[in-house]
Amino acid sequence: MSTRGYKAWLGYDGKVTGQGTAQWAECLNTIVYHPGEGGVVQRTALLELAAGLSALTKREPEHTSDAGRSRFVAAGVMGSSPVIEGAAGQAETDDLPAEGFVIRTVKDGKRAYIAIAGKSERGLLYGVFHFLRLLQTEGIGEGGLNVVERPCFGLRMINQWDNMDGSIERGYAGESIFYRDNAVLKDSPRIRDYARLLASVGINGIAINNVNVHQEETKLITERYLPDVARIAAIFRAYGIKLYLSVNFAGPVELGQLDTADPLDASVQAWWRERAECVYRHIPDFGGFLVKADSENRPGPFTYGRDHADGANVLADALLPYGGIVLWRCFVYNCHQDWRDRSTDRAKAAYDHFKPLDGRFRDNVVLQIKNGPMDFQVREPVSPLFGAMPRTNGMMEFQVTQEYTGQQRHVCYLVPQWKEVLNFDTRLKGEGTFVKDIAAGRTHPYSHCGITAVSNIGDDDNWTGHHLAQSNLYGYGRLIWNPELSAEEIAVEWTRQTFGAAGSVRPTGSLEGSRAEKVIVEWLMASWRTYEDYTSPLGVGWMVRPHYHYGPDVDGYEYSKWGTYHFADCLGIGVDRTQATGTGYTAQYAPEVAARYESLDTCPDELLLFFHHVPYTHKLHSGKTVIQHIYDTHFEGVRRVEEQLASWLALEGQIDEARFRHVADRAAEQLDNAKLWRDVINTYFYRKSGIPDTHGRTIY
Ligand code: GCU
Repeated sequence: MSTRGYKAWLGYDGKVTGQGTAQWAECLNTIVYHPGEGGVVQRTALLELAAGLSALTKREPEHTSDAGRSRFVAAGVMGSSPVIEGAAGQAETDDLPAEGFVIRTVKDGKRAYIAIAGKSERGLLYGVFHFLRLLQTEGIGEGGLNVVERPCFGLRMINQWDNMDGSIERGYAGESIFYRDNAVLKDSPRIRDYARLLASVGINGIAINNVNVHQEETKLITERYLPDVARIAAIFRAYGIKLYLSVNFAGPVELGQLDTADPLDASVQAWWRERAECVYRHIPDFGGFLVKADSENRPGPFTYGRDHADGANVLADALLPYGGIVLWRCFVYNCHQDWRDRSTDRAKAAYDHFKPLDGRFRDNVVLQIKNGPMDFQVREPVSPLFGAMPRTNGMMEFQVTQEYTGQQRHVCYLVPQWKEVLNFDTRLKGEGTFVKDIAAGRTHPYSHCGITAVSNIGDDDNWTGHHLAQSNLYGYGRLIWNPELSAEEIAVEWTRQTFGAAGSVRPTGSLEGSRAEKVIVEWLMASWRTYEDYTSPLGVGWMVRPHYHYGPDVDGYEYSKWGTYHFADCLGIGVDRTQATGTGYTAQYAPEVAARYESLDTCPDELLLFFHHVPYTHKLHSGKTVIQHIYDTHFEGVRRVEEQLASWLALEGQIDEARFRHVADRAAEQLDNAKLWRDVINTYFYRKSGIPDTHGRTIY
């Protein structure tokens, strides 16, 4: 495949840009490298550099080990050659982690060169991608380059929810690129191209099968499939990405050999040891196991009267000799709840289950905690469990796939949402205990930590269904490399690389974005709030069609077993999660945070209905009543989609026809669906409350 959509942000058909670029342009014609002992990742880095430069400059760079040239780009691992060493500089680089890199322009005598120096081969690979990105975005300024980069988080992962029959749970972009008809696909170019996309934004780990491990996938850790899995691992290895597998806790039983999966049973422990040994025989640098246990009817230690620490530790012990880790998910709650029971609160479940187990998990277990206490809603508070177990490694789970946020038919750029989560002050160790610092291991002595996310790709030609949804995969990687980047900076980077060839997107030499860039970036930046506005209000969440999670259905989950209710009646709406009169969920936060959410005076408007049940006439901090806010945001959200669609249509001729049409069609669908949301939600609440819209707009 070679369409522009397929190449995503690695099309390299933009222009080398920036004021100072001209004086360094000559360097781009020659790559100086040290032929020495390099491994596979270094080879990848050099190939990527050559391919990127030749695409951008439209000429094949010369490769040489002769650093006596007057103009060149030098690429290598620190310590490998004098030019690299000279550019790397001692002071700054000594404490640089292995994945870090330096990019510097150097003038020495007659020579002027650009050095990309990785602390390790992986650092070099990241440096190469960063350099290619710089050429297309900021360019090399008058002052040259002096870049020192290091990733914020250790584990920077992606989870595929792919099944071996080829389907993808919550996938909105076609079928799996890994499996079809219960076999591992042989089409490795596509897998390799995915590895490139991931490595280009710094991802270093991937779990390649769904957390819901069904019958066939249970066998992925057996001889039957391991040779195939090893082939995939090799593809990712070349891009510095470690492979992980989701495993079935009931494996010992389901694979037929044992009659129990009790983690304290010696034969079960031996079974897992044997599986680990077998996996590492095929994949010596295997990352570890990802586990969804006792969650949504998946098997787990509860069956045997054991707890999650017992469950996770048996796997951890099996992986320990090989350096593997267990990613143990905390998405554990009662999915057979009685809706009549107002005392049970799904939001409390993860904390209640796991917090008492702090300190009981092995050092190679990492708890994988969703960003919110419910399930990837458009708006949720940060999970109170995150950071609440100081003696247990933790990592946060985001969802790049847009399950509840428009399923890649709507534009919903999620980087602003993730940024809010990362910048949230948990106060767990006093003021300034930000989620990003916890996940980076700065506030807690974690031995493994970081961020993971559910992927949004499939075998659609453009990977993500909606062209603009590529920005979420790109943005996820960039943000977890450097959470200090603004959502807008990331959007601009992505747009310039992805639509750079659209002529006017990025005129050479200009640092001003084009009209097209402005339209795309503004659309992305407003999209999360827009989606929130025309869907479920004030943090209440859900109100979606059960199971599909697309389109409005206010009462779809209201009388169900899933624990996701809004409790709307003729007087008011919302879930009382206070300690004073509700479920007591607020008590799971640090006292200052709990107090903020507990009180109507201080609870932020956007989470009001998550924490409180209030009358429709309750006045928000904004000065509006709840009911008027619902009406206003729903009309406003749709108006914004109309505006966005119109600005996109005005770009006709400035974006290649295929992508232009595709995005226009999706936006038209988004608009239709947004109108449906608006009318269903407004009508529902008008009929419930009997309170008219003060502006007299049409409500049915
Ligand atoms: C959600 C989603 C499921 C998924 C689950 C999980 O409930 O709808 O498809 O399996 O999350 O994260 O395990």
